[in-house]
Amino acid sequence: MSAPGNKTGRRARRVLDRLARLFLFRDGIPASDAGRAAAVRSNFLLHLHPSRVTRRAAHPSYTWCMGGLATLAFLILTVTGVLLMFYYRPSPEFAYLDTAGMSEGVPFGRFLRNLHRWSAHAMVIFVWLHMLRVFLTGAYKPPRRFNWVVGVCLLVLTMLLSFTGYLLPWDQLSFWAVTVGSKMAAAAPVVGGEGPAIPGTEDVLQRFSLKVLLLGGSDVGPAALLRFYVLHCIVLPLACAVLMAVHFWRVRKDGFSGGL
Ligand code: HEM
Repeated sequence: MSAPGNKTGRRARRVLDRLARLFLFRDGIPASDAGRAAAVRSNFLLHLHPSRVTRRAAHPSYTWCMGGLATLAFLILTVTGVLLMFYYRPSPEFAYLDTAGMSEGVPFGRFLRNLHRWSAHAMVIFVWLHMLRVFLTGAYKPPRRFNWVVGVCLLVLTMLLSFTGYLLPWDQLSFWAVTVGSKMAAAAPVVGGEGPAIPGTEDVLQRFSLKVLLLGGSDVGPAALLRFYVLHCIVLPLACAVLMAVHFWRVRKDGFSGGL
C-alpha cells in the first residue's frame, strides 16, 4: 500500500501536468533537459524571440533593447494607471482636486503619479528610438513589411495615449495644450470641421467632424474630459495590447533580422 504523502504528491503532479498542458506545454511537462529546451524554444509565451538568431543580432547593441524597454514602460503604465484610477473621477468638478489630492493625501500617491508620468515620457522615447533602430538596420524590408505597418499603428497609439492622458489632470497646462491639439485636428481638410470642406457637407460636419467626435462638442469641456478618460484608460491601452501581441507573434514568425 502506498503512503498517503505519495498519493497527494501524485495527485498534485497530475493537476500540475494538466495545468501545464492547458497553458504552456502541449505534451505535458518534459522529463529530459533536451525535452525542456525544445519545449521552451517551441513555445511562444516562453520564448518571444525566434529560436534561431545570429550572434550579431543577439548582442544588446543591435536592438539597444528598445522594443523590450517600450514593452516594460507599457506594463509599468498599465499597473500604475489602474492604481491611479482608484482615486480619480473624470469630471471637471473633481478631476483637478483628485489629481492634486493624490500627491498629498494618498500613500505613495506622488510616487505613483511620477512613475506614471515618467514612464509615459520614456515609452514615447523608446518607441521612436526602436523605430529608428529598425529603420537603420533595414529590418523593415521583406519579410517584415507587415510588422513595420503594425509598428506604425503602435507608434500612433502611443502618441494618442500620451495626448489623451495630458488632459486628465484638468489644470491650465493640460486644458490649453488639448485646446491647441484639438484645433489642429479641427483644421484637417474634409473631416476636421473647421478646415477646407467639400461644398454641401457643412451641415453634416456640424455634428460629425473630427473635432466634434474628439471633444463631444465645440470646445474642451466635461464631454471632452469623459471621452479622453475612456480613450486613455480603456480603448487605447486595449488596442495597444492587442497590436503588441500581433507584433511579438510576427517578430517570432518572420525571424529576427540581423544576417540570418
Ligand atoms: C508600443 C510600441 C512597440 C513595442 C512595444 C515594440 C516591441 C518590439 C519588440 C520587443 C521587438 C523585438 C526586439 C527588438 O527589436 O527590440 C520588436 C521588433 C520589431 N519592431 Fe517593434 N515595437 C513597437 C513599435 C514599433 C514601431 C513604431 C515600429 C516601426 C514602425 C516597429 C517595427 C518593428 C520591426 C520591423 C521589428 C522586427 C525587427 C527585427 O527583426 O530586427 N515596432 N518590436
